[in-house]
Amino acid sequence: MGRAIIVHGGAGLIPPERFHAAREGCRAAAEAGWQILAAGGSALDAIEAAIVTLENDPGFNAGTGAVLTSDGRVQLDCGIMNGTSLDVGAIAGVERIKNPVRVARAVLTSPHVLLVGAGAEEFARESGFTLCDPGDLITPYQYARWQHGYRPGDGAHAGAELDALLAKRDAKSSANGHNAESEPVHADDTKHGTVGAVAIDDDGNIVASASTGGRAGKHLGRVGDTPLPGCGFYAEAGIGGISCTGDGEDFIRLLLAKRVADYLATGLSAQGAATAAIRLLGGRTTGEGGLIVLDSNGRVGYARNSATMAHAFMCDDMPAPFAGV
Ligand code: GLY
Repeated sequence: MGRAIIVHGGAGLIPPERFHAAREGCRAAAEAGWQILAAGGSALDAIEAAIVTLENDPGFNAGTGAVLTSDGRVQLDCGIMNGTSLDVGAIAGVERIKNPVRVARAVLTSPHVLLVGAGAEEFARESGFTLCDPGDLITPYQYARWQHGYRPGDGAHAGAELDALLAKRDAKSSANGHNAESEPVHADDTKHGTVGAVAIDDDGNIVASASTGGRAGKHLGRVGDTPLPGCGFYAEAGIGGISCTGDGEDFIRLLLAKRVADYLATGLSAQGAATAAIRLLGGRTTGEGGLIVLDSNGRVGYARNSATMAHAFMCDDMPAPFAGV
């Protein structure tokens, strides 16, 4: 058994000029998690650090820089699972939480599994988190994309309420002296871009997580696979951990993350299980996406049927993280 971490920055279509940003974003996340594992820290802490890095990177569709709903809001979903205890924490449809993975982790240590919307935000406040302004999560790029309509025929949006939110956000950010603007790494930013990570620590604890803004232009209240254990993520000690990205409805239909765990349990390798699950996704649905896997020995697997999937991983026997698209 060896400690290891693998992260993804979402399946989709990353144009060559954004390969570098996609790889470096994932490499930074893998390094953030690895530093914790290498110092003997827990897989839970490593996953939180890795996902926070990706949520704070406006190039990915999670946390700051996430895509907008049809009516111009950011609604975030996130889940995390501890494979040793089988504890799960997830939140969905939140609009005022900068780092959903931190709150999902707090849910994991509570009696709950999944909290949604205003109730999840109230739980976050009760747990000591400061709620952000909804506009803080919206980047100028994503606002402009929404204004122009995500798809042909969407029509242009005018958002007086959003304009006010963003003006408040911009005033605050220039007062603080930052401008963290960046274009998304995905060219077709109507699809995908969910982030995720799986880690195993010195004690053999496996933790898996995923975090997303969901589909661009989604209906208010739409929830995909990302906060649903067994669909967008799954971890079980002695078997492995999985994190998914792609067309969430199809990952839900197939319970795809749990399928990967079942393939591992029947003896498939991490890579074999990843490949088999993506073959199933393509064979039984029109869904597109990818997933990452760690088995209980810290061996890595990943597969996709999308054009690209940003990813990075680091294991004990590597001198530095490998990052790719
Ligand atoms: N896979 C992310 C979503 O569909 O929301």
